[in-house]
Amino acid sequence: MSRSYLMPTYARQPISFVRGQGSWLFTSDNTPYLDALTGIAVCGLGHCHPEVTRAIQEQAATLVHTSNLFEIDWQERAGEALCLAAGMDSVFFANSGAEANEAALKLARLFAHNKGLQRPKVIVMDKSFHGRTLLTVSATANPKARAGFFTLDDDFIRVPFGDIAAIKQAASEHDDICAVFLEPIQGEGGLNTAENGFSFLDDVAALCEANDWLFMLDEVQTGNGRTGKPFAYQFSQAKPDVLTTAKGLGNGFPVGACMVSGRATDLFGAGSHGSTYGGTPLASRVVHSVYEVLTGSDIMLNAEREGDFIRQSITDELGSQGVTSRGQGMMIGIVLPQSTDCSKLVEIARDQQQLIINVTGAHVVRLLPPLNLTRSESEQVAQRLIDTIKAAQILA
Ligand SMILES: Cc1ncc(COP(=O)(O)O)c(C=O)c1O
Repeated sequence: MSRSYLMPTYARQPISFVRGQGSWLFTSDNTPYLDALTGIAVCGLGHCHPEVTRAIQEQAATLVHTSNLFEIDWQERAGEALCLAAGMDSVFFANSGAEANEAALKLARLFAHNKGLQRPKVIVMDKSFHGRTLLTVSATANPKARAGFFTLDDDFIRVPFGDIAAIKQAASEHDDICAVFLEPIQGEGGLNTAENGFSFLDDVAALCEANDWLFMLDEVQTGNGRTGKPFAYQFSQAKPDVLTTAKGLGNGFPVGACMVSGRATDLFGAGSHGSTYGGTPLASRVVHSVYEVLTGSDIMLNAEREGDFIRQSITDELGSQGVTSRGQGMMIGIVLPQSTDCSKLVEIARDQQQLIINVTGAHVVRLLPPLNLTRSESEQVAQRLIDTIKAAQILA
């Protein structure tokens, strides 16, 4: 090919995969790569899961799209399966994480409007990532994602992740706050967990209740079984008013969801929000099949157990050299000492170990393997990463 006709929005790695099966990706010469990234937390059930493939094939041959002008039986069924697992009342189906979050932020504005606020503000976290639409990139912290886009900064107040005192301080300084929006574990920002773990969510929920703000969670990355429960907030006692997800929801099929309960339940009415493609028969059937697999097997238990095993195996081997771990279930952060140069790790893992990984937050290796990884595959993920870090000779 003489030149690429694609906009250069991605720094792509020089490799292409032509086939995927379970935890493995294959190049055109049939070399297998162990996928500890799953398309950034997307293919949680593994590549081309047979149940999901069957759902796609059958529905593609039956009915792909009608319109939300009509009743869609599979959308009803997917909505029920998702809301029951998530502990939420109702759902709006979108096509991506950013769109799900855009719906959440619009709900917050509507909530504020109904209360008579003039210039509502949403509290968001340092190091957050919420998407690339104008409103969601304004909620996002990453300066690279925001640069040049005249982000809507007056609409957000940013506080350190996990810092309940900073949220209280914001409450004392502003009378136009309408919501708090955060990821239970920050994925793009460095696999960050709050200092007091999931009980941070309980503290935020209580503050939201006391101030009549919406408590809104972005579980685009943490949702759909990745942490060992359908949604990460279920490790806390808190209950969100708004809960968004995408990624693992379609196991690779593009779909997102914004769910509501409590104070957010009756905000959207006919005509107040919509999407041509949201919740097509095909997308909905896929969501339904993903939830049949997630809730009809021990796959989430497996995610919790194997995630712990990988974290433990790596820190057992490298802990004495300052390597620690964090995360929950199959959301695994392997934290190297602060000053470590991690720039070559992705390449070494890929080219020498045939292991697909990601580095985030400069010195954190992010592993997002399939939830149904076998013990033998978990051992391979751990060993290949240990060998990668040793080969890079970056630890003191
Ligand atoms: C927490 C979180 N929210 C939102 C998004 C945006 O999702 P999408 O890329 O599907 O728009 C991402 C993507 O990485 C994410 O991790």
